[in-house]
Amino acid sequence: MTARYSVIVPLMVLAVLLWSGAGHGEAEDREELGKVLHAMPPNGPFWKYGTVVMRRKSKKAGMTPVVFPHWVHRTKYTCRVCHLELEFGMRSGDTGVTRAQYLAGKYCGACHDGKTAFSVLDGDPTKCEKCHMKDTRALEERFEKFAEKLPAASFGNGIDWAKALRDGQIAPSNSFRAERSVMQFPDKLKAPLKLGTTSPRSDVTFSHEDHFAELDCSSCHPDIFKIKRDGTEFFSMKNNIYGNYCGACHMRVAFPMNDCRRCHAKMSGSSGY
Ligand code: HEC
Ligand code: HEC
Ligand code: HEC
Ligand code: HEC
Ligand code: HEC
Ligand code: HEC
Repeated sequence: MTARYSVIVPLMVLAVLLWSGAGHGEAEDREELGKVLHAMPPNGPFWKYGTVVMRRKSKKAGMTPVVFPHWVHRTKYTCRVCHLELEFGMRSGDTGVTRAQYLAGKYCGACHDGKTAFSVLDGDPTKCEKCHMKDTRALEERFEKFAEKLPAASFGNGIDWAKALRDGQIAPSNSFRAERSVMQFPDKLKAPLKLGTTSPRSDVTFSHEDHFAELDCSSCHPDIFKIKRDGTEFFSMKNNIYGNYCGACHMRVAFPMNDCRRCHAKMSGSSGY
């Protein structure tokens, strides 16, 4: 329960804003959506976006919670590596990692073994603090230098990750164990999908191919989207903003919903930023 806190709070703030700002509860209005997104998280500091605080097990054991920054890891590994191969859940708190598990080489311990990255085995308490972070200043400072080299965006991490990947500025590996191969992308999904379940004129196209570069089919099907065109129910912008559907990633790790034009390519007007 507590692990979800950080997500629930911004969503509660949003709920209040939606109901108070929308007048008649018609939140789908473009101006209103724009205002809501402008006023709410994720508008926090760039380094913090996609940084998950894991406290489910630490808290009980009296340890400082663990700070897991996606941005550090995204340059080296695709989502697939952790969320398919290493079986991390895609919701904060879902995995329930224990010390016994990562000491046995699972989860964080698969990489933090002293070879690929600093070790979880190290008994030196200053090493524990690299994950069980009391103070995030070093991480924030590291972010400043890190982001300088990457293409800029207005929201999220302030980094255009899609461009960085396209231009080869990052080249994350797609599997952790060399012998594991990624299935070939099916030809019949190459054509971009035009979305418009609830709003035929919203003009959003979805590229399976771009997403498959970092994600697996099982990241989205069947939990987030029906595997049938226009089959997903309650698929609206408002539900996206609440962290469902596209928002499952595009409010937490991938560029957030504030960045309207990256999905609504033809959107114009004041709320289009
Ligand atoms: C590579 C990152 C990392 C390092 C380094 C690390 N931990 Fe952890 N630790 C975790 C994660 C992740 C969890 C689970 C966090 C949660 O959900 O609360 C955890 C949980 C724990 C827990 C509570 C869970 C349980 O099973 O008892 C203890 C105790 C703990 N760590 C001790 C330590 C000590 C002591 C050190 C240093 C010798 C250390 N950790 C170093 C990542 C790390
Ligand atoms: C190095 C491992 C690693 C990589 C690579 C990785 N993740 Fe994660 N991800 C995690 C961990 C660990 C968590 C926290 C899980 C938990 O708390 O149980 C997480 C959580 C998430 C969450 C939930 C966040 C929240 O606040 O609820 C989302 C969404 C997510 N990841 C998406 C992605 C996407 C998209 C990518 C690729 C761009 C990605 N992840 C790459 C390890 C990774
Ligand atoms: C797939 C491999 C992989 C997994 C899984 C992984 N890490 Fe990492 N992690 C790395 C690598 C490699 C680095 C070093 C990256 C660099 O310095 O550029 C790193 C760096 C970090 C850093 C940055 C530390 C610093 O001083 O800048 C933290 C914090 C961290 N990992 C925590 C975690 C935690 C917590 C988990 C598990 C929840 C985890 N990592 C799982 C590979 C991994
Ligand atoms: C990032 C999320 C995501 C990933 C990853 C993903 N899909 Fe989809 N898929 C969607 C969405 C969104 C739809 C449209 C659903 C709707 O309209 O209700 C869809 C629709 C489909 C459809 C129906 C298409 C049509 O024209 O009728 C098929 C088939 C499908 N996906 C297969 C796959 C396969 C196979 C993979 C892995 C190679 C995959 N998907 C990966 C999000 C995803
Ligand atoms: C499972 C996670 C996930 C889901 C669900 C998801 N995406 Fe993405 N999407 C990503 C990641 C990761 C990227 C890479 C860029 C980034 O991280 O900012 C991306 C990139 C994109 C891009 C490319 C932007 C560019 O500038 O090239 C578009 C457009 C996009 N997503 C639209 C959508 C839409 C529309 C949906 C819902 C139908 C959706 N995504 C659902 C993870 C996801
Ligand atoms: C990650 C992709 C993504 C981003 C970013 C995004 N949207 Fe959407 N939006 C969608 C999708 C997908 C739909 C349509 C869902 C459907 O009907 O199939 C949609 C639908 C809409 C609709 C139609 C009404 C409705 O409720 O469905 C409006 C209005 C809208 N978006 C406004 C915005 C505004 C304003 C922003 C920026 C503040 C924005 N969107 C950012 C993906 C996105």
